[in-house]
Amino acid sequence: MDYFLIWLSVSYSVILYSPLIAAQQFEYRSHICTNDSTYTANSSYPSNLNATLSSLYENASRSDDFGSISVGQNSDRVSALFLCRGDNSSESCRGCIKTAREEIKILCSNYKEAIIWYDRCMLRYSNRSIFSFKDEWPRAWLGNKNDIGNDIDQNQFNSNLGGLMFQLISRAASSSNLFAMGDRNGIFGTVQCTPDIPPSDCRICLSGRVSEIPSCCSGKVGGNVLTPSCSIRFETYPFYTAPPAPPPPASSPSPTTPPPTSLNPSGMDFIHYHF
Ligand SMILES: *[C@@H]1O[C@H](CO)[C@@H](O)[C@H](O)[C@H]1NC(C)=O
Ligand SMILES: *[C@@H]1O[C@H](CO)[C@@H](O)[C@H](O)[C@H]1NC(C)=O
Ligand SMILES: *[C@@H]1O[C@H](CO)[C@@H](O)[C@H](O)[C@H]1NC(C)=O
Ligand SMILES: *[C@@H]1O[C@H](CO)[C@@H](O)[C@H](O)[C@H]1NC(C)=O
Ligand SMILES: *[C@@H]1O[C@H](CO)[C@@H](O)[C@H](O)[C@H]1NC(C)=O
Ligand SMILES: *[C@@H]1O[C@H](CO)[C@@H](O)[C@H](O)[C@H]1NC(C)=O
Repeated sequence: MDYFLIWLSVSYSVILYSPLIAAQQFEYRSHICTNDSTYTANSSYPSNLNATLSSLYENASRSDDFGSISVGQNSDRVSALFLCRGDNSSESCRGCIKTAREEIKILCSNYKEAIIWYDRCMLRYSNRSIFSFKDEWPRAWLGNKNDIGNDIDQNQFNSNLGGLMFQLISRAASSSNLFAMGDRNGIFGTVQCTPDIPPSDCRICLSGRVSEIPSCCSGKVGGNVLTPSCSIRFETYPFYTAPPAPPPPASSPSPTTPPPTSLNPSGMDFIHYHF
């Protein structure tokens, strides 16, 4: 089946990313520089931006999974935040934020507003306030290049995936960091919101992303749907750090999960959509 690219970008400019950048360790996903938001070099915006990005790196260095800060006044005020994936990985969080802040300076230099996503972290900044409310734009869809194939019943796969996702959304919305990970019938998933939004908004944001799976990733063994406030990912292998001792299921024993497959083990092989 052919894949076609949807490009609905009206108010965002997307700069095509060259893979030479040493961000692969953290699995670069996407970035978007908001169109028409460039600053002039003689304003205090660039130095305020520098200061916010440095502070975020300090937050990440303290093993925070989430950090936010604003620097400056009036039209030169910069607000920025980062979020790291909610599984046990503070070491990789620090490294990911270091990479993200370096790369976004290069990729979106002179832009007042930008966002960059990696598998393990997200970083964004803007000249407007971006804290504590649900923001579902811009958005990126990434489908794993590998098809489910004929060996697996696609309807069954979709139904299992939907079941897993809604289970994870419920768990995330009732957790302190608005993150959940888990597996079911050989499908592994994570869902996450920035912890500055209310759980009810988190639930709405994540449900919206799950409803986009058929458009994003139909027939694919994996996918990523990314927005500033929430993101989801699923694969047919465990891509997250599993907790050391998962409690055994109370009632019905779940079928044993298959060992990690060799399908897209690095998670790098995605088809991109931005809009
Ligand atoms: C960005 O803005 C410019 C000028 O308004 C416009 O010509 C261009 O098409 C826009 N690009 C995108 C991707 O929206
Ligand atoms: C952010 O910057 C853009 C571009 O200069 C400007 O149009 C917009 O009004 C600014 N927003 C705020 C909240 O200052
Ligand atoms: C900054 O430079 C632009 C031209 O690049 C100029 O129009 C503007 O007046 C300058 N602003 C300040 C505050 O110096
Ligand atoms: C931002 O920081 C970098 C080093 O981290 C420095 O080279 C650059 O001059 C700084 N820019 C501003 C505007 O402060
Ligand atoms: C991040 O660090 C800055 C200081 O570097 C602090 O002001 C801010 O409150 C921190 N943010 C969070 C969410 O901890
Ligand atoms: C997970 O947490 C344990 C104990 O807190 C730590 O020893 C280990 O290095 C962590 N693993 C990762 C990948 O961060």
